[in-house]
Amino acid sequence: MSPWSPASWRDKPAAQQAAYASPADLERVVAQLALLPPLVTSWEIETLKSQLAEAAQGRRFLLQGGDCAESFAECSADAITNKLKILLQMSLVLVQGSGKPVIRVGRFAGQYAKPRTDEFETRGSVRLPSYRGDLVNRPGFTQAEREPDPRLLLRAYERSALTLNFIRALVRGGFADLHHPENWDLDFTAHSPLAEEYRGIARRVEGSLQFMENILDVHASQIAWVDFFTSHEGLHLSYEQAQTRQVPRREGWYNLATHFPWIGMRTANPEGAHVEYFRGIANPIAVKVGAGMPPAQVLRLLDILHPSDEPGRMTLIHRFGNQRIAECLPPMIEAVRASGKTVLWCCDPMHGNTRTTPGGVKTRHFDDIRGELEQAFAIHQQHRSYLGGVHIELTGEDVTECLGGARNLVDADLARDYRSEVDPRLNYEQALEMAMLIARIMGRT
Ligand code: PEP
Ligand code: CO
Repeated sequence: MSPWSPASWRDKPAAQQAAYASPADLERVVAQLALLPPLVTSWEIETLKSQLAEAAQGRRFLLQGGDCAESFAECSADAITNKLKILLQMSLVLVQGSGKPVIRVGRFAGQYAKPRTDEFETRGSVRLPSYRGDLVNRPGFTQAEREPDPRLLLRAYERSALTLNFIRALVRGGFADLHHPENWDLDFTAHSPLAEEYRGIARRVEGSLQFMENILDVHASQIAWVDFFTSHEGLHLSYEQAQTRQVPRREGWYNLATHFPWIGMRTANPEGAHVEYFRGIANPIAVKVGAGMPPAQVLRLLDILHPSDEPGRMTLIHRFGNQRIAECLPPMIEAVRASGKTVLWCCDPMHGNTRTTPGGVKTRHFDDIRGELEQAFAIHQQHRSYLGGVHIELTGEDVTECLGGARNLVDADLARDYRSEVDPRLNYEQALEMAMLIARIMGRT
């Protein structure tokens, strides 16, 4: 293989890159970005890698969740706090159900770039470049807003820093203290059909914490707050390259814009630029795999991206859809086993289950999401494999983007509060219900 550098991806075909009017302007911005301080540290990245290694062995469970795409408009105290609250609540439920420590990873502080199926969007007789996330252009349907603007890279980086700064302050400041789960209550919990069950779980966790403190005769303040890690799709390679650095006293190169970048389905070409970039960074990485991706391609990806079988390095996030998982997952598990390498298996029950209503709205049904998850746990168990994580698009807000769930949202409800510019997310209640469901399945297995 030819030598790697943070820029060696430029010699390979790069899918899903925006066409900037002035490449020179883009390079100027990338040079500016490269001078700014990093968002995360190599210590944090290595800590996460060792936790993911334990998850791959069945000793931890990964909860990865957040918006399909963050937006500049939602970089606000409420939106960030509510996202943390729902992830904390879900993780509490999962800890209780699985009896294992949960690794919390947000799709946040950098999830600003989106792959698109169509390069252009047409409305009536007007044809404009597709919206590719706030990192690249803007959602409004005008030529000016859809024109890729390199300055947005700086704005996105700054908002990632603002988001992460607020998250770190909340976590360190006691917001995530397990002694006080009432801090994370969301306003609508009180009216939720799930409220009682959730409160019961929270009380049991508090009880266990007290029990542990009593027998250890210590206050668990050292271990009683929890950590969050960040992740985003490493899609915009100039942006990722700008934050790829060497650090003192460690070998290799780290992407210091996020702890845990992943390669999306559409850019997982073993000969492509994304795989070339990811091969050289020391972060733990994930690849989305799905129907239409032959096991041989996954093995080729493991050769390139996971050559030394380093513990914690590689997560495979499968997203086959409720209809296809029974046919597609078993051969993939067996192929990976035959390679002799260890990966962390994670199920994304969202992206294989997207559909469009007769009215033209992109949605997902809770029952399909649940169906895929249930099958995923069962198939891994049948094949003596371990499903060590879930990857979910959710929000802490009370939106109406996915159908079904405890309140049984129907097509007509979608119009009430549909906010996503991209994929539909589980709302607060649906996300909590999903966590309870997973906890129940894990409690049984
Ligand atoms: C996503 O995670 O938002 C996404 C685009 O997923 P995938 O690459 O699995 O289609
Ligand atoms: Co999505």
